[in-house]
Amino acid sequence: MIITLASDHAGTELKSTLCTLLESTEAEVHDLGPHDTASVDYPDFAHRLAAEVESGRADLGVLICGTGLGMSMAANRHPGVRAALCHDAFTAEMARRHNNANVVCIGARVTGESVAEQIVRVFIETPFEGDRHSRRVNKINCPQEAPTEES
Ligand code: RB5
Repeated sequence: MIITLASDHAGTELKSTLCTLLESTEAEVHDLGPHDTASVDYPDFAHRLAAEVESGRADLGVLICGTGLGMSMAANRHPGVRAALCHDAFTAEMARRHNNANVVCIGARVTGESVAEQIVRVFIETPFEGDRHSRRVNKINCPQEAPTEES
């Protein structure tokens, strides 16, 4: 499994910690940067990582900014990406099990290191349940097909 990580300046330190965690697993780990804490714009890194996941060059992604919000907004502009902002192991588990999320977003200014490690561990270990959830996930990119109140 190829797992790719990226952050902005607010998330560089946590990204290093999570890289170390992931490197201790069987996964192949790609760190897309940044590699220092100089100020950068989070969408640049969100789009870079989302392109890797969308193309299939990476199986899963981890995005970190201050809150995780900007990263998730930008990554979710890519139709092949389902980015989930997770604050705990439960949301990480459900993001995989029910939503088939392929990118997890974490806020380095709101989530402590050990919770972030739990989130990532659960995210990479939990399978998608499929079944009725496949139907729902398939509808995410099709707003025009959602029934109206009248239909
Ligand atoms: C950077 O200061 C901050 O805005 C960014 O890390 C992130 O939280 C945006 O959503």
